[in-house]
Amino acid sequence: MVGHDGVGIGDFVLLEVIDKDHFMQNLEKRFSGGCIYTYIGEVCVSVNPYRTVNIYDQEQVNKYKGREIFENPPHIFAIADSAHKVMKQQGRDTCIVISGESGSGKTEASKIIMKYIAAVTNAGGQQEIERVKNVLLQSNAILETFGNAKTNRNDNSSRFGKYMDINFDFKGDPVGGNISNYLLEKSRVIYQQPGERNFHSFYQLLFGASDSDLSKLRLKNKVDNYFYVNQGNAASVRSISDRSDYKATQSAFRTLAFSDHEIDTIWRIVAAILHLGNVKFRPDNESVKLDDPGVLDTISGLLSVTNQELRRALCERVIAAKGEVMAKTHNEAQANYGRDAFAKAVYDRLFSWIVQKVNRAINLKDEESSRYRQKTTVIGVLDIYGFEIFDVNSFEQFCINYCNEKLQQLFIELVLKQEQEEYQREGIQWQNIDYFNNQIICDLVEQSHKGIIAILDEACLNVGKVTDEMLVEAMDQKLASHNHYSSRQLKPMEKDLKHKEDFRISHYAGKVTYNINGFLDKNRDALFQDFKRLLYSSSNPTVKEMWPEGAMDIFQTTKRPLTAGTLFKNSMIALVKNLASKEPYYVRCIKPNENKSPVQFDKEQVLHQVNYLGLIENVRVRRAGFAYRQRYDLFLRRYKMISQYTWPNFRSGNDKDGVKVLMDEQGYSDDVKYGKTKIFIRSPRTLFSLEQKRSRMIPGIVILLQKQWRGAICRRRYKKMKAALTIMRVYRLYKMRSYFQALQAIFFNPEDNYWNVSSRRDFGKSLRWPNPPLVLRKGVKNLKAIHERWRAWMIIKRIPQEDWPQVRYKVKACDALSNKRSYYGLSRRWEGNYLALNNENSDSVQYNHTINNIKNKDKFKKVLFSSFIKKTNRFNKSADRALLVTDTGVYKLDAKKLNLMKRVLSIQEITGVSCSPGTDQLIAIHSSLGNDLVVALEPRDNQDRVGELVGVICHRYFEVCGRDLNVNVNMHFQCKLGNKSRSVKIELSNEAQSGMFKKDGQNVLYLLPLQNSNNLINTKQAMQ
Ligand SMILES: Nc1ncnc2c1ncn2[C@@H]1O[C@H](COP(=O)(O)OP(=O)(O)OP(=O)(O)O)[C@@H](O)[C@H]1O
Ligand SMILES: [Mg+2]
Repeated sequence: MVGHDGVGIGDFVLLEVIDKDHFMQNLEKRFSGGCIYTYIGEVCVSVNPYRTVNIYDQEQVNKYKGREIFENPPHIFAIADSAHKVMKQQGRDTCIVISGESGSGKTEASKIIMKYIAAVTNAGGQQEIERVKNVLLQSNAILETFGNAKTNRNDNSSRFGKYMDINFDFKGDPVGGNISNYLLEKSRVIYQQPGERNFHSFYQLLFGASDSDLSKLRLKNKVDNYFYVNQGNAASVRSISDRSDYKATQSAFRTLAFSDHEIDTIWRIVAAILHLGNVKFRPDNESVKLDDPGVLDTISGLLSVTNQELRRALCERVIAAKGEVMAKTHNEAQANYGRDAFAKAVYDRLFSWIVQKVNRAINLKDEESSRYRQKTTVIGVLDIYGFEIFDVNSFEQFCINYCNEKLQQLFIELVLKQEQEEYQREGIQWQNIDYFNNQIICDLVEQSHKGIIAILDEACLNVGKVTDEMLVEAMDQKLASHNHYSSRQLKPMEKDLKHKEDFRISHYAGKVTYNINGFLDKNRDALFQDFKRLLYSSSNPTVKEMWPEGAMDIFQTTKRPLTAGTLFKNSMIALVKNLASKEPYYVRCIKPNENKSPVQFDKEQVLHQVNYLGLIENVRVRRAGFAYRQRYDLFLRRYKMISQYTWPNFRSGNDKDGVKVLMDEQGYSDDVKYGKTKIFIRSPRTLFSLEQKRSRMIPGIVILLQKQWRGAICRRRYKKMKAALTIMRVYRLYKMRSYFQALQAIFFNPEDNYWNVSSRRDFGKSLRWPNPPLVLRKGVKNLKAIHERWRAWMIIKRIPQEDWPQVRYKVKACDALSNKRSYYGLSRRWEGNYLALNNENSDSVQYNHTINNIKNKDKFKKVLFSSFIKKTNRFNKSADRALLVTDTGVYKLDAKKLNLMKRVLSIQEITGVSCSPGTDQLIAIHSSLGNDLVVALEPRDNQDRVGELVGVICHRYFEVCGRDLNVNVNMHFQCKLGNKSRSVKIELSNEAQSGMFKKDGQNVLYLLPLQNSNNLINTKQAMQ
């Protein structure tokens, strides 16, 4: 809310009751809570914290940059930003008026504003703009050296009023500036109250310059030696280091392009004033003499004038009257007056010249001003003395208080005007505001002929004849009927007013009694013409440049110059005119106590300032009818969450309609008025309760936002994941497509739309499949299997169906024996049940009969293989038998009778088969029973049937057990007979007519005849 930061109320306009007590309570509460800034609308009230507060760093700058004033806690940054924003966005000149009493923090405030502006401008980092900013900031150092002094109220008190214009280009970057100075307190040059000092420049020179520089100026670094700087007896100040300040001043001079000669002249003038303070006169008849003529040499040397002319200017004056010129010697008082007036004038002129010089460094250069003409806008910063009420108030206080009257007048006019204009703009009826208009007091001071300054000027015309006392009488006469003027003469009952000495003005900020003594002299501000001519005659061109009027003819110069009062009045009128043309912002500074304490809040003193700054009046004017106003769009954005009709968005009309709906629903309609673009709220209470309702809703909204945001993040992540999956899927499809295209290119002939593998002899067996992508590995394996099956089908479909069983056995035999055994009878027809054939077995009828018997008994289905065999047993006995392999097991038959001897093994009990690589008919069927069958087949046609038997057994074993049988092909192999391990060896021997078994110790020998036969050759080859 409008500057609400939890400590008291951030904007006085929102006080429920506007009176002194509530105002003071809130101000004190905020000060003790560490909040030094509080608003009155767009006016910023600032209380000097008298301590370093951590609210001016870059983080804070960022917080306020480009924000609305009500968005953040009250801060001077917000005012500076507002002024800058309006200037930049609307192209309007703005100004910031800073006022308050001595030590209240005006100069600090102006520096904070400058620094803020420097911090938020020149985003592009242009060198020239950086230079301008640097020069603007550095100019402060010089102005403070020559215009500030230690007073009893402020160690760094500005003893002049300062108005600074900063020029900005269309982008809002500073491109130049101009400084105006007002009413330097020059009496300080010759006199300081106890505890106070002269301007810093004197002490910086004495403490900061090197010994050799000092001796050139004929100075010693002893303050006590010089009357003009030792009267306050407070040369050293804890918070000031003159030595380092001197260095800073010198460096600032260089930054601002002062030449060496100019810098030298400045310090020579300062030194000359120090020496001038030590000039003493002695009466000498009608005239005066100098006490110590030696000092004259020093001063004339420093100012580059002749000793003689200087002496003459100090001791006499030239008067031109009735066409004649004559010299008149001074008496002692006149000489002292002349010397002091000279010192003051020289310093005053030096100061103004320095300001001009600074301006030359920061003013827009000619070519720049033509470049920027029409385009530059201005922010003015006014740092000017606030209202002053002392025990004894003189001409200076009179001027200062008049200045504050003018500023107050401007403030009232502008604020009221703004209010009125706003009401008109918004179509809201204007209602009169009860406030005190101080125009009448301004008139009292400045009106021509009737005003106090006019009366003063008139009195000054009559030199010598009119006294200060007569001046009071003249004022009494002319202002008797004025409500805001009084004196003892006019109000005899007011005993505290001194007769013929005091007069009183009822300022808007309170009554002030002025003592008339010195008014005439100060207003006349006379400097004998002789001094002007003297300095114009200086051989130092810089000194000469400072006193151009010294060139004037003596008859001309006797014409009276404008008085100090009139000059000041004119400068004030010009200033106010200048400010009135700009959009004003105000900073009102308050000093919490006299002791520079960061904790003490002196109620009486603060109230005094609150009164003379007219702050309560200020609140009343600002509150004129309405405590708060805001643009509809901004208002709705801030409070829309408290109504169901406007949250999250108002859709049935414009912002104004939305605000109306909201206020009606909440029951505030009686307290508001609807302008064209803004809503006006009458009482602060409405605003507070809106604000409370808003605060209650905020946590929920924050959670909602967090929820939405988290959801959004998750959704975004999910979408990314989905996108990744889509990409993967599409990529996979692409890879698959590419793979199949590659495959097609190999297996398919697109020209005749024909699968060219079918026409190949090997049906594509030799074709190389491309490497499948990961995703297709499994599929391609199946595909290959399909291809294999197809290929197999293509092959076997040419074989008659009745041959398929033997083909199966041959395939098995091939698996087991290919590359191991040279021949296994593939080209031959495999009959299987040979003993059922007549040409093999003459007794086949008997055989078939036996088989049927066994079949019925043993329940097997089919004989797969039968053959005559020779077998050996564990006793190494060899016998002729017949072998039968059925679908359930292996049988032995008697070779002669062909009746069953016994079933040797079941298929499951077979553990392997061994044979030799040659066609020697030897085969061993291993079993798990410890008694292997070691036999030699004995076919009638002597063809090799071992391959067929291996194929049959392996095939059946695979059918029954689901795995391949182990087949060992070797010339020697192991077998078990009677549970004992025997090795079987093949040998050739003359002994054998055909294959025969023979005992060889524990082993079994299978002897083959040596005759030339196929068996023999193959076996022999295998044996080698
Ligand atoms: N915002 C602030 N933060 C910290 N200290 C401050 C602040 N404002 C003022 N002060 C302290 O108060 C002192 C007086 O402030 P400043 O010189 O700005 O007063 P002034 O109003 O310009 O007085 P004068 O009218 O005498 O020139 C400063 O030197 C500084 O110590
Ligand atoms: Mg100041």
